[in-house]
Amino acid sequence: KLLIVDFGSQVTQLIARRVREAGVYCEIAPFQNAERAFAEIRPKAVILSGGPCSVTEDGSPRAPQSIFDAKIPVLAICYGEQLLAAQLGGAVEGGHHREFGRAEIGVVEESPLFAGVWEKGSRYPVWMSHGDRVTRLPEGFRVIAASENAPMGAIADEARRYYGVQFHLEVAHTPDGAKLIANFVHKVAGLKSDWTMSAFRGEAIDAIRRQVGSGRVLCGLSGGVDSAVAAVLIHEAIGDALTCVFVDHGLLRGGEAEEVVTLFRDHYNIPLVHVEAQELFLQALEGVEDPEVKRKTIGRLFIETFEEEAKKIAADGRGAPQFLAQGTLYPDVIESVSFSGGPSVTIKSHHNVGGLPERMNMKLVEPLRELFKDEVRALGRELGLPEAFVGRHPFPGPGLAIRCPGGITREKLEILRKADAIYLDEIRKAGLYDVIWQAFAVLLPVRTVGVMGDGRSYDHVCALRAVTSTDGMTADFYPFDMAFLGRAATRIINEVRGVNRVVYDVTSKPPGTIEWE
Ligand code: XMP
Repeated sequence: KLLIVDFGSQVTQLIARRVREAGVYCEIAPFQNAERAFAEIRPKAVILSGGPCSVTEDGSPRAPQSIFDAKIPVLAICYGEQLLAAQLGGAVEGGHHREFGRAEIGVVEESPLFAGVWEKGSRYPVWMSHGDRVTRLPEGFRVIAASENAPMGAIADEARRYYGVQFHLEVAHTPDGAKLIANFVHKVAGLKSDWTMSAFRGEAIDAIRRQVGSGRVLCGLSGGVDSAVAAVLIHEAIGDALTCVFVDHGLLRGGEAEEVVTLFRDHYNIPLVHVEAQELFLQALEGVEDPEVKRKTIGRLFIETFEEEAKKIAADGRGAPQFLAQGTLYPDVIESVSFSGGPSVTIKSHHNVGGLPERMNMKLVEPLRELFKDEVRALGRELGLPEAFVGRHPFPGPGLAIRCPGGITREKLEILRKADAIYLDEIRKAGLYDVIWQAFAVLLPVRTVGVMGDGRSYDHVCALRAVTSTDGMTADFYPFDMAFLGRAATRIINEVRGVNRVVYDVTSKPPGTIEWE
């Protein structure tokens, strides 16, 4: 195992992804808890992340001394590098040589970190983002690469296997970064690639059996990848001691409910209760315009419906389920570094079943809590889930309700389903589905005047949204070419009655959010 100590960098999760892509399991601990995590995990190597502080400030975070006492390899990135230098007796200077964005670094010495990737005497593109820099090396260190503004761009004490880099090698803007991280993991630390989804599958199944014993598990399916993968995995572990509950709230896309039911009942033979609650949800949402009220209404009804079904299942003579399965992922579990300590603002109260386990007095089974999204997809493939299901764009719990700003009606939902299906069909045809994180149509509560044939039309506006993202936290709008947008718009207006104008949303996140509500 490898431990990553987080000093508050925005991209710490990317370091973890790169390490795992190199086939090595790793965990992230915030610096405040690093001492404890280090003692628990007993890692074979450590990576110190970047962060927003300056080591020259009083009280700025430090790495636990136990890491250095353990005599294991350390890779330190950006703030980590400065910290390494400062903690081992070197010097760091604040502020004067800020460097942000693309830069070039020249390799001045050969090193196991660069082996087979970077050659001595050549220059390579890297991504820099720092205000401080190391000015005096600790004893035992030498410079192995340098940039104009960071003469100590990469430093190494090869005897102790300590490496520091000023640039961010975890981001895509450092094209060779992933290979350098793999070098650290394999060549420097000597760790083997044994983190694979087929190994994980076996271990996870054992763990589920140990946890559940002869008990019963209830699993809510949403139609999304995470709950589906969790359900298939649990079913493999305990068979029909698992019962799935799929609450159809009437806010799904066209064909989605049938797809879930067919896949689980017919393909996997997993016991599935399909709750047709469309009427209940749509009636409760009638006249509701406020996005937060929509979300809260849907969340509350979901919990109530689920509880009711659970009671029925508990009364089926096979004993009450004691466990509730959830598709919680690693990014939800990682403790985050907070410097402000203040309360953060709720932008949207995301719909999830949080609170459900306490209310129902059930224990949680969360077989995916160590995985990143891309690993869940790989596990889904390993379990034989169809590619079309595994590669799906994320879909929010409140569904189409938050893609219909203003009041929701069945008619509007129908229009939205049709427009959305055409838009996604065009995206698939253009071969863009997999490069886009999420794409969908939004039906606006405005009507505009148009001319169709010889007549006047007065119909809805449909907005199209497509973004790229790695985690949904930040996102860029997708730069379609105009011909594509023209094609999608023409088809929607021609084929969907009720829409006479189409617009494209060119807002990134921040300042926008991905969904409109
Ligand atoms: P926003 O709109 O906050 O969305 O930028 C970020 C990501 O989260 C999804 N999303 C949700 N997912 N329940 C969910 O399960 C929700 O209530 C919810 N709201 C937004 C959104 O689709 C995007 O992927």
